[in-house]
Amino acid sequence: MRSAGNAAASVLDMITPFVVPGVSTEELNTRCHDYITEELQCIPAPLHYTTSADIPPFPKSICTSVNQVVCHGIPSPTRVLKDGDIVNIDITVIKEGFHGDTSKMFFVGKPKPFAKRLVEITQECLYRGIRVVKPGAKLGDIGYTIQSFAEDNGYSVVREFCGHGIGKKFHTAPQVVHYGRPNTGATLVEGMAFTIEPMINLGRRHVRILSDQWTVVTADRKLSAQWEHTILVTANGYEVLTLRDEEQFV
Ligand code: MF3
Ligand code: CO
Ligand code: CO
Repeated sequence: MRSAGNAAASVLDMITPFVVPGVSTEELNTRCHDYITEELQCIPAPLHYTTSADIPPFPKSICTSVNQVVCHGIPSPTRVLKDGDIVNIDITVIKEGFHGDTSKMFFVGKPKPFAKRLVEITQECLYRGIRVVKPGAKLGDIGYTIQSFAEDNGYSVVREFCGHGIGKKFHTAPQVVHYGRPNTGATLVEGMAFTIEPMINLGRRHVRILSDQWTVVTADRKLSAQWEHTILVTANGYEVLTLRDEEQFV
């Protein structure tokens, strides 16, 4: 899991210099796909991923979620990034049979102050959620910490999508929701691995799914941000399996 997590994190580092005005999300997908398969010798887990028989398989190797897209944005040659956009790139790789899942937000060119604040508060939501993790803590403690920080800052928390257990399978129990009440839900135990991946909206929390059956957008079409890490519960606390060099954890 550590090795898979490191591999996923390295894709976000690799793609960072290419997230600039004028690039299409398809070009970002192609670069990540080639890096994952050729450099890392890994499998891009989203490609052809299925969740149910009535939904088509996901057609690309990464998710690129721009502005009002909450998650599961499909890379496209016609989605060209422009100055002031915000975009989440979500990478999941399979290495030696295990999954590493992580995402981060990028500013395309110069961010608007309201977009910058949303992105930074959402990253802090993830970090505050991670710092709760230790044996004996409850899932509700994570959700409560994230929800209260987001709402105290005037934002809303998406309810329909959540973090998840992860390992040999991409998505397993438990569901790690990003809202909740302290001292409720399953108890964390050393050795568990799961993601925390809060989706925080500038406006209301409600979402819609587009006709492609994957793209999740805010119902009010206002901005949404998301950051994700894969976390291991250790004897004393947590290990962030998808940590990047640029991150300082204290
Ligand atoms: N990486 C996403 C997550 O964090 C899931 C993407 S599934 C896909 O759980 F099929 F849309 F790629
Ligand atoms: Co995930
Ligand atoms: Co992900």
